[in-house]
Amino acid sequence: MNLQKASDKTDRNKLDDLQTTNTNTKSESETNSLEWVSPVYSSSVNININKAKAIENRCVSLNNNAPEIDFYKIIRTQILQKTNTNKRNLIMVTSTNPGEGKTITAINLAITFAKEFKNTVLLVDCDLKQQKIHQYLGLPGEKGISDYILNNIPVDKLIIWPGIEKLSLISGGSIIKDSAELINSPKMKFIINEMKNRYDNRYIFFDVPPILKVADAVAFAPLVDSILLVVQAGKTDINDIKKAIDLIPKEKFLGFVFNRNRLDNKIYRPSHK
Ligand SMILES: Nc1ncnc2c1ncn2[C@@H]1O[C@H](COP(=O)(O)OP(=O)(O)OP(=O)(O)O)[C@@H](O)[C@H]1O
Ligand SMILES: [Mg+2]
Repeated sequence: MNLQKASDKTDRNKLDDLQTTNTNTKSESETNSLEWVSPVYSSSVNININKAKAIENRCVSLNNNAPEIDFYKIIRTQILQKTNTNKRNLIMVTSTNPGEGKTITAINLAITFAKEFKNTVLLVDCDLKQQKIHQYLGLPGEKGISDYILNNIPVDKLIIWPGIEKLSLISGGSIIKDSAELINSPKMKFIINEMKNRYDNRYIFFDVPPILKVADAVAFAPLVDSILLVVQAGKTDINDIKKAIDLIPKEKFLGFVFNRNRLDNKIYRPSHK
């Protein structure tokens, strides 16, 4: 694990600065626009994942012989059908409660989308209290999206190319206690808008905390186009699912991913009344 623990006081102060200094969003946007150059191999970090460790950690899409691959392809097809005509390419992955498989789902979907012939994919770790994507993939994860927001590190310096064709990712950095405030910041809104519009045919997946436990996912929902709710087969409580659905803007809800379902593993979109 390579998380650098920043003192809460330091992060809090930086966050306060952020809230007060971002009133002039136009000039902020202009400055940041200059900072973020296209993610190219020469300036982004190029580190190969530890494939064996990642597969052991359930990143099964890396194993071409894994039986789960076809299920992730079915989910990919369903998501593509729902999103590619109207460019709903910002996809947040959440769940009701902790440990239901959000991070594993986000990683496996990102890899599966990158294998599709025309898509490129950016996977962003926005579970700022405990970033795990880099850990599951066996990557160092020294810097993450919070370093752009709090420390003005250009995004191209945060992007990792993990040696998987057409996939890049951002995961790592300090543990952020006031993560919902950081998500609500104008800089977060700006950078996500940049991610959305910089390239055609790019899907961006965001791994965020469980929606019933902390405010982050609710704060994140306005920033994305599409929301997936991971449900753990045989574990997630139906009443919690109902509560979660109430918190998700219905026009953004793509459907459920049934994780750990032994018989089937597909997305299901309920009809909203
Ligand atoms: N389909 C699966 N089959 C077997 N194990 C799984 C599966 N999905 C997730 N797991 C395991 O369950 C644990 C939790 O998974 P994961 O970290 O993806 O959940 P999470 O919802 O992101 O948790 P958190 O709320 O802590 O962020 C991990 O140990 C992971 O390896
Ligand atoms: Mg997680």
